Amino acid sequence: MNPSEARAALSVAWGRTDRLFELLTPQALHARPIPLRHPFIFYLGHLPAFAWNQIARGVLELPPFEPAFDELFERGIDPLDERAAQDASISDWPDQARVLAYRDRVRATVLETVDAVAARAPTDPLAAGLRIHHVVLEHELMHQETLLYMVQALDPALKHRPPSIPLPEGGPAPAAARVAVGAGRVSLGVTLEDVPFAWDAELGRLDVEVPAFLIDRLPVTVGRFADFVAAGGYADHRFWRPDAWAWRQRAGLEHPASWRRTPDGGYEVAWVLGHAPLATASGWPVQVSQAEAAAYARWRNARLPSEAELHHAAFGTPDGQTRLHPWGASAPDSTRGAFDFNRWAPAPVGSTPLGQSAWGVEELVGNGWEHTSTAFAPLPGFEPWIRSYQGYARDFFDDQHTVVFGASWATDARLMRPSFRNWYQRHYAFPFTAFRCVYPEEP
Ligand code: AVJ
Ligand code: FE
Repeated sequence: MNPSEARAALSVAWGRTDRLFELLTPQALHARPIPLRHPFIFYLGHLPAFAWNQIARGVLELPPFEPAFDELFERGIDPLDERAAQDASISDWPDQARVLAYRDRVRATVLETVDAVAARAPTDPLAAGLRIHHVVLEHELMHQETLLYMVQALDPALKHRPPSIPLPEGGPAPAAARVAVGAGRVSLGVTLEDVPFAWDAELGRLDVEVPAFLIDRLPVTVGRFADFVAAGGYADHRFWRPDAWAWRQRAGLEHPASWRRTPDGGYEVAWVLGHAPLATASGWPVQVSQAEAAAYARWRNARLPSEAELHHAAFGTPDGQTRLHPWGASAPDSTRGAFDFNRWAPAPVGSTPLGQSAWGVEELVGNGWEHTSTAFAPLPGFEPWIRSYQGYARDFFDDQHTVVFGASWATDARLMRPSFRNWYQRHYAFPFTAFRCVYPEEP
């Protein structure tokens, strides 16, 4: 990015963040729809605090104008259970007006100092290519997705749907089908010489020989997952890993957390700004935690794919080439998948056949981050190169987090690069995820 691109990209991203906050009623600011995270007001302060701490403090070493906020809003929480979340909770947050004033002053400073950062490019790797502005921009984009899945979990009385956001559509899901993906060598990871920007989690290199496998052509839908629920899948420990079973019992979970029962004994499925009848949602990819996805796969005598398998199914080709996107090198657009905020809810699976990979597997990038069996861990050669933010990935190399692959409808297209890695806790059911199964080779 050059300075004017950085100013434009940040200004546009901030505008989108502001529009997302407008989905909330004033009382919602102190709501905590996901008990494992802070209330919305934290995020109002977190985005500017992060920008300040990375650019103004981290690179330019400017004196702080509101040091208490720089610290209060520096980092979110990712507690493993609700007791830990309680311990990390803060009860009195500053007034919204003060947080907004802080935000606006930080934004103005960021815009005024782009050229000063650029001038340091020869001596500071965070300034070179304005990498630190990529850090701040991509952080903002990721938090837009986080905000949206928090809005989905929020009490409907605390949010409103502007007329510009349509009710989501349903549609018939195509019959389930499996696709054969041939053996190949997958190379995960990049170096900073390869790309304009990469997070530390992407750095390094891991070569994996992937044997041939059979995989669902499309993600598992709400309708198919309802069969698992109806068959007693949530009551049968044989399908669950012991820790997942203990978690399911503790949480009293009998169906996906984003579903709620209707008086007639059926279900409704949450989307960001409401609930859709099961009949509408039945063709959407089902949103569940990795632990629930793995239990479903077990029930089908199947398993979740690994990160390397999804990478190969998405970006590999039968002649050993690799692609920039599953469909090839052309720019992402809405015919290729549900991503980049091109809709407000998942698409019924099978809506974007033009996004299929070289193997004929659809929707690998878009329509939900896909669960994998891979524990989040550093690639060989990992290096926390962002000196002002060494914990971005490292704090989550704990075997409690697994890799999710691809993108959702709420993932900005600028995050859709083959090296990008994302992760969530195994038992975390709130984000816009999806999954598909891998089957033993047929005899
Ligand atoms: C990489 C998407 C899991 O949302 O917790 C935001 C991104 N890290 N602020 C998250 C992140 C710090 C992170 N994920
Ligand atoms: Fe953050």
